[in-house]
Amino acid sequence: MPGSLLDIAINFGIHLEHACGGNCACTTCHVVVKDGNDGHLSEATDDELDRLDMAADLTTHSRLGCQAVVTGDIVVEIPAWNRNYISEGGASILGDAIPPPKKPHLVG
Ligand code: FES
Repeated sequence: MPGSLLDIAINFGIHLEHACGGNCACTTCHVVVKDGNDGHLSEATDDELDRLDMAADLTTHSRLGCQAVVTGDIVVEIPAWNRNYISEGGASILGDAIPPPKKPHLVG
């Protein structure tokens, strides 16, 4: 059964912030799709697009990890501002024991 990028990240132990618990109410799960955008992700809903407008460093390939459902191989990158915040000592909203990702991950 397909899952969201956030679901898959959690299942593989990859830290992806998700302050609102995956309810499309924040932008902390913002990812940038590097490959597989067209055919391997669900289409963004109006709610996702409205929320994404508030994301830092928005790109044409930005998605919310909690809303994008993966249907095939895909490569995403967590924006640098989010990685840097955690790696420079900023605590994760969900706890400080989860290491930040080091490079883009292939999921799907
Ligand atoms: S976790 Fe808040 S919008 Fe995705």
